Amino acid sequence: MNALTEIKTRFADALASIIEPDHASADLLSMIKATSDGKFGDYQANFAMPLAKKLGKPPRDVAASIVEKVQLDDICQKVEIAGPGFINLTLDDAWVKSRLANAVSNDRLGVPKVGQARKFVVDYSSPNVAKPMHVGHIRSTVIGDALARVLKFVGHDVITDNHLGDWGTQFGMIIYGYKHFMGSDLADSEPYKFLREAYYKQFPIGTLGRLYKLVRQLMDYHSAVREIEAVDKKLMELKQALQVLEEKKPTGVKADDKQLKKLINAARSRVEAQRQLGEGLIKKIAVVDANSELKALADAHPDINRAVLLETAALHEGDQENRKLWNEFLPHCREDIQRIYQRLGVTFDYELGESFFHDMLGEVADEFEAKGFARTSDGALCVFMDQYETPMIIRKQDGAFLYATTDLATIKYRLNEWQADAILYVVDHRQHQHFEKVFDAVKLWGYDEAELVHVSFGTVLGDDGKPFKTRSGDTVNLETLLDEAETRAIAIAKEANPDLETQQQENIGRVVGIGGLKYADLSQHRASDYKFSYEKMLAMKGNTATYLQYSYARVQGILRRMETDLDELRSSAGPLVFEEDVERTLAVKLVRFGESLDEVLVEYKPNLLCNYLFELTQTFFQFYDQCSVKDASSDDVRNSRLKLCDLTARTIEKGLGLLGIGVLQQM
Ligand code: ARG
Repeated sequence: MNALTEIKTRFADALASIIEPDHASADLLSMIKATSDGKFGDYQANFAMPLAKKLGKPPRDVAASIVEKVQLDDICQKVEIAGPGFINLTLDDAWVKSRLANAVSNDRLGVPKVGQARKFVVDYSSPNVAKPMHVGHIRSTVIGDALARVLKFVGHDVITDNHLGDWGTQFGMIIYGYKHFMGSDLADSEPYKFLREAYYKQFPIGTLGRLYKLVRQLMDYHSAVREIEAVDKKLMELKQALQVLEEKKPTGVKADDKQLKKLINAARSRVEAQRQLGEGLIKKIAVVDANSELKALADAHPDINRAVLLETAALHEGDQENRKLWNEFLPHCREDIQRIYQRLGVTFDYELGESFFHDMLGEVADEFEAKGFARTSDGALCVFMDQYETPMIIRKQDGAFLYATTDLATIKYRLNEWQADAILYVVDHRQHQHFEKVFDAVKLWGYDEAELVHVSFGTVLGDDGKPFKTRSGDTVNLETLLDEAETRAIAIAKEANPDLETQQQENIGRVVGIGGLKYADLSQHRASDYKFSYEKMLAMKGNTATYLQYSYARVQGILRRMETDLDELRSSAGPLVFEEDVERTLAVKLVRFGESLDEVLVEYKPNLLCNYLFELTQTFFQFYDQCSVKDASSDDVRNSRLKLCDLTARTIEKGLGLLGIGVLQQM
């Protein structure tokens, strides 16, 4: 067991004699944390204050009575009450050394497996195929992969499932495009050569991707033409409303204007948002208007939006030709994304995809209806839940099923077939409402045992603080992003290692480039948006993969120079020595590796592992500055220091590995 868990268990015992063991005691125990400053010991318990409030007693007295009861003699050398009632705990050196010795000699670095393994399904990446993966997919892919790896390592049963969007409107779009545009006159024109049969044969996925884009452009054009008037009208109204407010505004700002100022600001943002919406539409119209070939195509397909929906519906209903085309397209789409997963080193146990569940949807809807959880409203089958203003539609008026219906069927499948105890959905924050509703509907349905979690995340932003786009305003292609990260890292690797062979330089560049990209994402609090920057993510200093990889390679260099026999070192019974304080500090950090993994899993936050690895590495360099390995005062001290070096390297390697990031022997 790791120190924190052990300490919590001991405090739980102590608390049991002071308060009723209710929920509050779990809350109280969660207030025991590792300290960031050695002044306060290694761990600090802050719960005496809230507990004192509850008991109506002075906090220091409460702290004293807990300290009197808690049995920590074998783990802590010091238990002190400080300030208003903090309990500061200092681990016993002998205990730290025994944990450290265990980690040094152990393949798992001393991290125990969980007592009770649970079955987790992790649903991540899950792109809508038929269109190229873009920057938005990086987050789900790397966060999901890291969580799956950590869960597995601590001993849970994990099934990873890539819930591919392989059944949506995007297929209606390429089917429509294929039927109407392939081999058409347009194919004679150079920019549209992808519409030539021969081109398709040679580059199927290139054709499908562009076909998707072309149909998207035409659909957007027609929607924009239809909407622009209403959008303009609304903009006028909002502007007028703003003007009315502004006219009310007295000159000079007084305190009681606050409310008005707030209203004015809100109205201004509404005007701005509406203006941007209009601008976006105008751009979409202008692009097509400016291109005579496109314009002619748009004019020839005025009903394309509806037609695409009909193609999608026909596909779902089993139309032979559409199924045939879908069966032809899908393998290309899958192949295309596999290339990216391969470069990212990401694999899945299953890739069932939405299409897999299609035949189960009718049954789901029927069951909801039969059990009275859903009823028809305006022809659509809806699940009404008191806590939501709008119902969740599970079957449309025309009989089509929805994204939510598929998720319900998927959950049923995962619970019944895989016996999942928990399902994690690593999906961006905009789908928050969707998952809330689906999860609540599932409870209604009676599957209330499993833990369903939306592991949500924010947006990747560009320099301007807006969602990361290319200069021309398109979404950033994921493959281009990987290429760029690798190219930059290879250039750096060549400069740093001019003597290495090209192949080695390129290998370094790939590990650093992809690692940097992943880490830049994983090291952010997942709920926040973050600004994408190649420079920052490949920086040698700071909380980056490059810094950790470089540190790992440095330690390997030290071990090589000392001609250390690692197997012998790890199995040697020689003592661990804390000659300097920093050796102890590093040792305590090292034995906390398992705790950092527990922390990751509390709220599914990989950035906590990044923080841990960064702090560990910083502590290592303090140690390395102050403690010579070569000129140590004795063989015992030297060996002890070598063990600290080796374990640091192994912890960085394992930690990065759990984040899906590789290390290098030399950089
Ligand atoms: N394909 C969806 C999208 O791109 C994400 C799917 C997430 N997983 C799920 N079970 N809904 O938005």
